[in-house]
Amino acid sequence: MRMKIAVLPGDGIGPEIISVALDVTKVVCEKFGHELQYEYGICGASAIDQIENPYPEETHELCMRSDAVLFGAVGDPKFDNDPSIKVRPEQGLLAMRKRLGLYANIRPVTTFESLIHKSPLRPELVRGADFMCIRELTGGLYFGRPQGRSEDGNTAYDTCIYTREEITRIVTLAYEYAMKRRKKLTVVDKANVLATSRLWREVAKEIAPKYPEVETEYMFVDNAAMRMIQWPTAFDVLVTENMFGDILTDEGSVITGSMGLLPSASIGAHTSVFEPIHGSWPQAAGQNIANPLATVLSAAMMFDYAFGMKAEAALIRSAVNASIDANVCTQDIQAEGEKAYSTSKVGEWLTEYIRKA
Ligand code: IPM
Ligand code: MN
Repeated sequence: MRMKIAVLPGDGIGPEIISVALDVTKVVCEKFGHELQYEYGICGASAIDQIENPYPEETHELCMRSDAVLFGAVGDPKFDNDPSIKVRPEQGLLAMRKRLGLYANIRPVTTFESLIHKSPLRPELVRGADFMCIRELTGGLYFGRPQGRSEDGNTAYDTCIYTREEITRIVTLAYEYAMKRRKKLTVVDKANVLATSRLWREVAKEIAPKYPEVETEYMFVDNAAMRMIQWPTAFDVLVTENMFGDILTDEGSVITGSMGLLPSASIGAHTSVFEPIHGSWPQAAGQNIANPLATVLSAAMMFDYAFGMKAEAALIRSAVNASIDANVCTQDIQAEGEKAYSTSKVGEWLTEYIRKA
């Protein structure tokens, strides 16, 4: 098969982790006889610096004509501490999600047996945790308008908006995933306070009877945040709105042991995007120390979700597992007393493993 992917490294550690994920993708394609074409695009702070647009038209066109997008991270501290700046790197990521119609962000949270000790939670709590957080990605507070400041600058506002249609499509998708898994769905909201959450719950209750095999539970987000670390193995599929999903999945990474391990797939109307859930970690940029595994696992999701290539995805996952078992780990997940590997060394180990497999 021939596939064409858009490669968007972005900012900070983005280029380093993407380089590893792309090498892994290349060697998998070689191994399975697929023809890989790829093209780089700019986005985020680097695109602002070059052409003052964090998601340039050219990048959008590249994404549209590709079969999948492999995305690194965006963000740069020089924008974070200046509230007067109008154009921000994160707007590029949001624009990409919106324009590609990527309404669903799928974030699996699992554990690795040899990293159980890396979680600050007790091993018996996290062992066997395996759930999937489905985050709505193109609505809610991150997109609602109006957003801004009063004229005197002393009042700021964001708007949380959801339509029945937006909720229906994401909740339906979550039920479909639950059907393929352990048939349990947790609908996370704040229906005791928010109008949008009440609509979420109303719509979810209408859809639930169509999936009688799925056990549905409704949970307030504050409670879900607690339960996720108190009893992570109790979850199978969670579905929630944009900001709650953003927050809960960072929390979820604590179960796995490092932010550097959680991949994601964003799917919807046009080309799907595969990206790690972590950010651009600017302090580490260029140091060759960032964990590339979240991005490598995102590439595995790309083979699986975008191309339907299960064996290819499985091989990447087994390479990742093997690297962790062999202690070929970056500093964030390295066992005590062992030496930490660099980003690129982990990459070399993975490609070597896949080549020989
Ligand atoms: C994520 C990130 C982004 C988000 C930021 C960088 C805009 O935190 O993918 O979770 O909030 O969606
Ligand atoms: Mn986030």
